[in-house]
Parts: sequence; C-alpha cells; structure tokens
Amino acid sequence: MADKKLFCANWKMNKTVEEALVYIKNLTTILKEEEFNAQDIIIFPNLCTIDSLWRTIGFYHYNIKLGGQNFYPVKSGAYTGETSIDILKSIGIEYFLIGHSERRHILGETQDFIDKKVLFAIENKVKIIYCFGEKLPDRKDNKIEEVIKQQLNVFNTIDLTNDIYFAYEPVWAIGTGIRATKQDITDMTTLVKDISKGKISKLIYGGSIDDKNVGELSNIKNISGYLVGSASLDPQKFAEIVRKG
Ligand code: PGA
Repeated sequence: MADKKLFCANWKMNKTVEEALVYIKNLTTILKEEEFNAQDIIIFPNLCTIDSLWRTIGFYHYNIKLGGQNFYPVKSGAYTGETSIDILKSIGIEYFLIGHSERRHILGETQDFIDKKVLFAIENKVKIIYCFGEKLPDRKDNKIEEVIKQQLNVFNTIDLTNDIYFAYEPVWAIGTGIRATKQDITDMTTLVKDISKGKISKLIYGGSIDDKNVGELSNIKNISGYLVGSASLDPQKFAEIVRKG
C-alpha cells in the first residue's frame, strides 16, 4: 500500500462552534471510512471550537486529528490572551503549526521568536508542522536560498525525528489563487535536502491548493502532503483534495 499522505486543513480565524460541528458531520458523510483511514487528516480549528470538535470526534471515533494554530512558548503564567501547549494538549491537540506566514508577517513573529517556539515544542515532545517560504521580492532578487537557510537554521542543531513536518508555503502563493508550479516545488525539495544535508525529508506543500489543482501535484517525489487554507473551509472541496492529492 502507498504511504499515507498528510492533509492539513488550516481554518485560520473562521467558523463558529456550530459551523465547525456541521462541517465535521458533512466531511464524515462525504468521505468513507476507508478514505479517512488511507490518509492522515488534521484540522487546525479556531481555539474556541477545539473542545467541541475534540469531544465530537472522540465520541464518534472519527479518524481526524486536531492541531493548534498557535501557542506561547512558556509552560504557564501571566501572558494575557495567550495559550500554552499544555492547555491545548488537554483538549486533544496533537500537532502544532509554527512559523506560518500570517504569524510572521501579520502578527509580527520574528525568526528568533519562531526558533524559541520550535525549541519549546521539541522540549515538550509535541508534533510540529513547521512553515517556511520566501516572499515574492526574495524570489525576484534571487534570495530564495538565503531566506530558506535562515528559516531552517534552527533545525541544524536538532535531532530531527518523525514528528516534524516541513510545510513549504511561498508567501506569494498563500490566499492569492497563485499556486507554486510543480517545478517550483520540486526545486524546493532539492534545496531543502541540500541545506539540511538530507536530514529533512517530510515535506508538504501549502499555498492556493484547491480541489481542481491538487491532482497535478500528487506525484511530486518527496512531497508527502498539503497544508490547505481557503479550500479547506468547504468540506466538499477538502474531501476532493484528500481524494485527489
Ligand atoms: P491558502 O492558505 O490555501 O488559502 O492559500 C494556505 C495556508 O495559509 O496555509
């Protein structure tokens, strides 16, 4: 049997509790049990909906994992408005997104802070989806290698285990409808392999993936899944992505 692929639905700041529960009901009606079992599916919901989703998924034994979109890299304490890994683990979160472009470029997370999150997550033995990718000017100025090296630098000192996925998400492809080409993605797999001296192998792709274009990417060597934003908000589209990817 072919290796399982990873399909991540990043809901960002969308869906109320009711909408989230209706979504799960629809997704589990559209996809058959064997289709769920053939792949790994993780939903990254909004913080407030996680608990209800976790209870529903657990009650019906759906084969869906839950991920956290964010956490603050300390154990606990006086950090108003923030959430810890321990709190998220207590409501069923197994995976954590780190370095997403919206946290870097809209919420102001620096590479230093992102590195801290990586080290803290590893110390706390949780699974990571680490996002990285260049901006359009980096590409135009031939700076892709420099930027990616900087974003992956923290992993040089880390013994990489199976619990880290690396999501190549070029910033210019996120939410724009302009997906990276097969060649762009293949080039990135080679670059990452070179930079990491072969240590990084679990690569996924994100950026304007939808049910119409995912099929073209399905046979890229060394891409083991997708991180999907907008198209993952519609259970029908997300189910098609899981089928065709
Ligand atoms: P998109 O988002 O699929 O809407 O481009 C991807 C992401 O932000 O992970």
